[in-house]
Amino acid sequence: MSSEALFSPARLGAIDVRNRIAMAPLTRSRAGMDGIQTPLAIDYYGQRASAGLIITEATNISRQARGYAYTPGIYTDAHVEAWAPVTEAVHAAGGRIVVQLWHVGRMSHASLQAGGAAPVAPSALQAGGTVFTEAGHLPPSMPRELATEEIAAILEDYRQAARRAKDAGFDGVEVHAANGYLLEQFLRDSTNRRDDRYGGSIENRARFPLEVVEAVADIWGADRVGLRLSPLSTAVGDTPLDSTPMATHGYLARRLGELGLAYLHVVEGQLHGGNGAGLFDVQALRAAFGGAYIANNGYDRQRALDATASGHADMIAFGKPFIGNPDLVERLRLEAPLHDAPAASYFGGGAEGYTQFARM
Ligand SMILES: Cc1cc2nc3c(=O)[nH]c(=O)nc-3n(C[C@H](O)[C@H](O)[C@H](O)COP(=O)(O)O)c2cc1C
Repeated sequence: MSSEALFSPARLGAIDVRNRIAMAPLTRSRAGMDGIQTPLAIDYYGQRASAGLIITEATNISRQARGYAYTPGIYTDAHVEAWAPVTEAVHAAGGRIVVQLWHVGRMSHASLQAGGAAPVAPSALQAGGTVFTEAGHLPPSMPRELATEEIAAILEDYRQAARRAKDAGFDGVEVHAANGYLLEQFLRDSTNRRDDRYGGSIENRARFPLEVVEAVADIWGADRVGLRLSPLSTAVGDTPLDSTPMATHGYLARRLGELGLAYLHVVEGQLHGGNGAGLFDVQALRAAFGGAYIANNGYDRQRALDATASGHADMIAFGKPFIGNPDLVERLRLEAPLHDAPAASYFGGGAEGYTQFARM
């Protein structure tokens, strides 16, 4: 493919995209504590609609799923009403938008849970790092191990969230199975010590993520469902790697391919770190999946041009570059300079650093 591949249209399952530049999911913590997006989100996503595909910030599928203050939800009718004008704005500008479905599992704090309850996890192992609460950054609370019978209710939460996503006008959903959250906690043997059918062998640890995918694909069709993985990242929650990342993620990828998923989205290497070259064979993972592949993590213009021209990836997701550059696609096309958004504006606050920028 030519160097113009990055700017050419593509198809991810049933989702047509006009270029190979995706906006990576970016938590911005500007919703209400009730998970309702404010009208600012309409401008924010609308401004970035020239991306081939927008993947929204991680969005809670239930109250229990929440691990960070001011993150949006997709589990009440009010959430649907707040998201609907966002998808309308993106579509009016010719863009495509999928919502990233999130359950944080153990990456939560009791103060964010109903009645101050313990967060839930595959096993009662406390995460490291911090989560963002109304009282600021705090270590995650000790989680409670989910009983086998409770898992069906979480699957139902995913199904209902997927249905509400459809009502809100999204083009599909991305299942968040990366970055140390619930589905990755089930997948990795470092965080899953269960001895029921959801723990032990690779097949058992992959069971819950696969059941989630099947539940949301029931609503959407598999060709409008993507999934995000981060096989080599320990960044969120100091989550230790799986003991055999390639075998574990390769198995999951193969099964996802058999289901006919729209795309596989991979954070290559350590989140915000190196690409893990030599430690993991992303091309083997991609081959195991067999469908469209979105690559992410530290891509710049040249690497994105090369990766799409060489066929390394079908699409490149940019995260931080989209924060300070709503018109990133045009800037990449023109080889124009990029603005760095101040990290202080990443999480929380208002329009400044979100939809408005005081440029020096
Ligand atoms: C402010 C911020 C918020 C993020 N929120 C999410 C999120 O909600 N879901 C997710 O999967 N990744 C999230 N990430 C990770 C990004 O999607 C992406 O993987 C990371 O920034 C690396 O890509 P980049 O080098 O292009 O920024 C976030 C990153 C940043 C900087």
